[in-house]
Order: sequence, then C-alpha cells, then structure tokens
Amino acid sequence: MQNNLTVHTMPHPISLEEVSPTGVAKIEGLDLSQPISAKQVGAIRQALLQFPVLVFRGQSLSKEQQAKFSENFGELEGHIGKLSDGSTFPTVHTLTNLNAEGNLINMDVAKLNYFWHTDKSYHAVPAFVTILHALEIPPSGGDTQFANTRLAYDALPTALKTRLVGLKAVHDWVASRLNSGTSPATEDQKQARPPVTHPLVRTHPDTGKKALYLGVHVSHIDNMASAESASLIAELTEHIGQERFVYTHCWRKDDVVMWDNRCLLHRALPNYEIARYPRVLNRTVIIGSAPA
Ligand code: SIN
Repeated sequence: MQNNLTVHTMPHPISLEEVSPTGVAKIEGLDLSQPISAKQVGAIRQALLQFPVLVFRGQSLSKEQQAKFSENFGELEGHIGKLSDGSTFPTVHTLTNLNAEGNLINMDVAKLNYFWHTDKSYHAVPAFVTILHALEIPPSGGDTQFANTRLAYDALPTALKTRLVGLKAVHDWVASRLNSGTSPATEDQKQARPPVTHPLVRTHPDTGKKALYLGVHVSHIDNMASAESASLIAELTEHIGQERFVYTHCWRKDDVVMWDNRCLLHRALPNYEIARYPRVLNRTVIIGSAPA
C-alpha cells in the first residue's frame, strides 16, 4: 500500500511504503553506510512524524557507520546498564545472547526488554529515536513489537482521557528492574538515576499529538493511592497492547529499524530458542527532550 502524501515528499531516489496502519513504513533507496544529505535527513525526520517506525532493509553497517547515521538525528545517548561481564554499555552497543567467546548465554538484561517500555523514560530527558541494526537473527522468532501509544490514546473513552488530565507517572530505574525481575540496580546506578516524573499523557513536540507515556520503567502514578495507581497502569498497559495498535517486526539480517520513542512502546519477544540461536543487534539511542 503506497502512502502518496509522504511518497511525494521523499527526495529521489528514496521511496516510502506504508507497511502497517499502526504507523510503520519501509524506506528504500538509501545506503545507510554512506553519508546522507541534509535533504534526506529531513525527509526521514518528516516520515517519522507520520510513521514512528521506519524499516530499512538490506543495510550492511559497521558500528562506526551506524553511529554516523544516528548522529544525523541528534546526540547519542550513553547507557546505565551493564554488560554480562560487568562493563558499561558503549554508545553503540550490542544486544546479544552471545558472550565474548561467542557462546550462547542467558542474558539477564534482556528480561527487561521483554516488557513494554519506551527508551530512557527513567531520564529527565528521555530518548527521541532508537536505531537497531540486525546482525544475526534466529531462523524464526526473536521479533520486536511496537505499540502506537498515539493511536491508543486517541481510542480511549472520553471519560478516561479526562481522568488522565494532569496525571504524572514516576519512572525509576530501580522499579523497572523490580517490575521485570531483572537483577537489582546497583548502588552506583541508584545514585546516577534517581526517579523522575513525566506526564502520563505527553504531547509530541513536533506533531502536537497526545500519546500515552508509560511502560515497565514506571513505578507508580504520582499522588495516587497505590492500588488505584497499579490498577490504572495495568488497564492502560492492556489497552495499549491490543493488536489494533501493535506492529510485530520479524527481523531479517541487515534490517535497520528506527523508531520514535515519544509515541510508542516496544518490547522484544522471547519467541525463539534463546539457548540455541544467536540474536545480535547493534543499538543506538538519540537523546530527545523533556516530556510535556
Ligand atoms: C530494546 O528494547 O531497545 C531492544 C528490543 C529488542 O531487542 O528487540
């Protein structure tokens, strides 16, 4: 299905094809390992406003090339998480179930990724886009899902939208590890990432559209009794996860997927034989702006 509006704004030789009504498009005609022009960057930015998930197939990228492509969209984010050997994630880091010797491991940090989340929401200034490049993919499964929280917000009953006005959620690295059953935050991490508060409904700075903003990093709704807060979070999370808002990306080697964290939740699916097949993706995250 072609989306004529956006196709016409794509500078030659780029083409854009809508692949899901949940806000997903495929872009062709670009080699992301090479520098791209300001016009092309502008076209990708424009496309993201309409399609918060963009897929580029057949991209062969080194880490340096991924960093260069990512820097077109802003400043690269550092990471608080630790690799399986205890070292800090580099800016372009690898999500993998292989250890340094190339053996399959049960990667503790991956657990958190199996829950709906939006990247770095435990920061005062969370992520704008995340970019994943698939290096090695299992023969089936190992998918990533994206839930469009702008569509999910739009579909809420008016009474619930009214109830959400002015509510804020506390996002906390410590809580997110507890919520996901991942190994507890270290004392250093607790110091480095104190809890932050964001609106439960955020307004996209570029489109002006509202989207639900929550996920596994949320500990509770500010100034709300804990049972009510837990029940509201569960209700909204269930609503967001409905099939009509969700796109499942079935990875191919050399796919690049970039997404706008400001109006999406995402999660990895443990729907493959994790102890049998490698799943290796390089990841970059671009710093966004404080939610409002
Ligand atoms: C992420 O949560 O950023 C990564 C998702 C994935 O591994 O598919």
